[in-house]
Amino acid sequence: MNRFYITTPIYYVNAEPHIGHAYTTIVADVLNRFYKMMGSRTFFLTGTDEHGDKIAQAARAEGISPKAYADRISGLFRQTWPKLDVQNDKFIRTTDSEHVQVVQYVLQKVYDAGEIYFSSYKGLYCVGCERFYTEREMVDGKCPDHDKPLIEREEANYFFRMSKYQDWLIEHLQSNPDCIRPERYRNEVLAFLREPLEDLCISRPAERLDWGIPLPFDANYVTYVWFDALLNYVSALGYPDGDLYRELWPVANHLIAKDILKPHGIYWPAMLKAAGIPMYRHLNVHGYWKSDEGKMSKSHGTVVRPLDMASVYGAEAFRYFLLREMVFGLDANFSKDALVQRINADLANDLGNLFSRSLAMTERYFDGQIPPFASEPDDMDRDLAGKVDNALHQFREEIPALGFHKALMAIWECIGAANKYIDYTAPWTLAKDPNLLPRLQTVMRTLLEVNRIVAVLVSPFMPATSSQMLQRLGLETRSADLRLESDGAWGTLVGGTKVFKGESLFPRVEAADKKQGKPPKPAQAGKKAEVAPKTEDTDAPQIDIDIFRQVDLRVGRITAAEKVPKSEKLVKLLVDIGENRQIVAGIAKTHPPEGLVGKQVVIVANLKPAKLMGIESHGMVLAVRDGNDLKLIVPEAETPPGGKIA
Ligand code: MSP
Repeated sequence: MNRFYITTPIYYVNAEPHIGHAYTTIVADVLNRFYKMMGSRTFFLTGTDEHGDKIAQAARAEGISPKAYADRISGLFRQTWPKLDVQNDKFIRTTDSEHVQVVQYVLQKVYDAGEIYFSSYKGLYCVGCERFYTEREMVDGKCPDHDKPLIEREEANYFFRMSKYQDWLIEHLQSNPDCIRPERYRNEVLAFLREPLEDLCISRPAERLDWGIPLPFDANYVTYVWFDALLNYVSALGYPDGDLYRELWPVANHLIAKDILKPHGIYWPAMLKAAGIPMYRHLNVHGYWKSDEGKMSKSHGTVVRPLDMASVYGAEAFRYFLLREMVFGLDANFSKDALVQRINADLANDLGNLFSRSLAMTERYFDGQIPPFASEPDDMDRDLAGKVDNALHQFREEIPALGFHKALMAIWECIGAANKYIDYTAPWTLAKDPNLLPRLQTVMRTLLEVNRIVAVLVSPFMPATSSQMLQRLGLETRSADLRLESDGAWGTLVGGTKVFKGESLFPRVEAADKKQGKPPKPAQAGKKAEVAPKTEDTDAPQIDIDIFRQVDLRVGRITAAEKVPKSEKLVKLLVDIGENRQIVAGIAKTHPPEGLVGKQVVIVANLKPAKLMGIESHGMVLAVRDGNDLKLIVPEAETPPGGKIA
């Protein structure tokens, strides 16, 4: 059986999760889901890096112990991933006792082999950073962070004979050209290796830093944080003799950004070699996310927080955007406008419309039952099938090669072709002529098959959307159980199965208010759902009765109500109008959810759906403003649900 082991960097707990962490972790999740679909046994590891002076300093600044501090931030990382639909198999912390034991085991092993020695080190030291700087790192002889002169200092420490592995590593990278990918990063590592490698200082005196793993052979020292952190990739698998280690280490794939290329491309291979552990299979390196304003930084307020994005735009759309927008290996720019544009164009317009049009017509022409292929395919059908084949092919080829944007482009080409196919075949015209029924059946069946394959192909990127689509196509398989070999085959829908169109997959969103950095205004419908009509609009222009009649006003009963988290105003309602409608209304300040269930209300039932704080709203509850108060419009007497207001 094929196997696949994917890791993310373990993130420092001195900052909260941001878009960069989210990107790497989502890419790992996409790869992991892809290999699962290919039938591989997979394992996905992420976690947090908790020792070292950065963390000790951050804890000191908060006035708490490093462990208490690490517990809090590590918890934030752990809680973030499921909210972005990330399904890791293990979350490791470098403070886990199993990890500490492995670090000490490897240190002892390497020490016993004579690969670690004790020596005095004289160098330039920054008191603020509590670390030495090399010639190359300093700027004008000063600390680049503190802009203060460095002082000469001598310190005795333990050193790992890294220089000894230089020739072996060059040889390995030359004979395994795809070991570090994309190639530019392999070249960067080979360029480092053209200069003589220095040995690596792997200890810190406990008297100046005690937040670390004690060296097993000298308790006066703790382990340098990188020597500790890198070993997580094997300690998580139960190295040295765990089954997972034996099974998965040979297929290890690390995923990192370019900032930590040197520790992964040089220190880690040398450590592995010295410890007698085989080299990892691939180091996959991506570029950096920058924001509109340049580099992301807390002090500039330009950090993009993934959970904010997910709550406003939805985790699925955020995942799609990240994978579609960045060319793996290169830097990319993040802007809310670009995100909104992709949601509206690619998700609402292309994918959402294809799906809702296809299912609506199946409901209209065949009472929701999947029709058979009832006529020979024509050129148009064959063209579309060609696009489907190409999307399947690119998906298989590009994802393992990290060409996520290319795989998505091919899927969207297929979606675009299917939308055009609807326009050209014009099923509404075919439906008028009973003699054309077999052609109508073939056209609709073809479209439903395309929708099914699209649901399969988007599944690693947007697993929840994929499951929704499959369910509405009348299938029982969910995203996590899909297998490309069987589920990617053409024609496997079962004729006669009922489909159901449901609500739109991706309601449109309005562009962000750039100046104030506000969240997007929900599309017209949602905006109205949030605010009650104003009393002062008495001089509103006159309208025709026909226009008023277009508004579908219904009586409904609230069957469920709950506050929208993090919003003062919004409440999520289910309103029974013959069917249960989900509506997000801006009435929470005057109408707490507890008092709403059972109440009859009047709603606008045919508003275009919109998202408010990431929650879909399918209508608007009518209310009248009275000063600061808001009063719901209710029927004079009990009325059956769905009653139309005439
Ligand atoms: N703790 C070390 C890694 C040890 S791994 C054995 C570390 N942590 S970190 O919190 O700084 O995370 C760095 C990683 O976060 C990057 O390699 C990348 O995966 C991700 N990103 C952080 N900021 C990023 C961007 N702005 N853009 C893209 N990814 C970035 O280094």
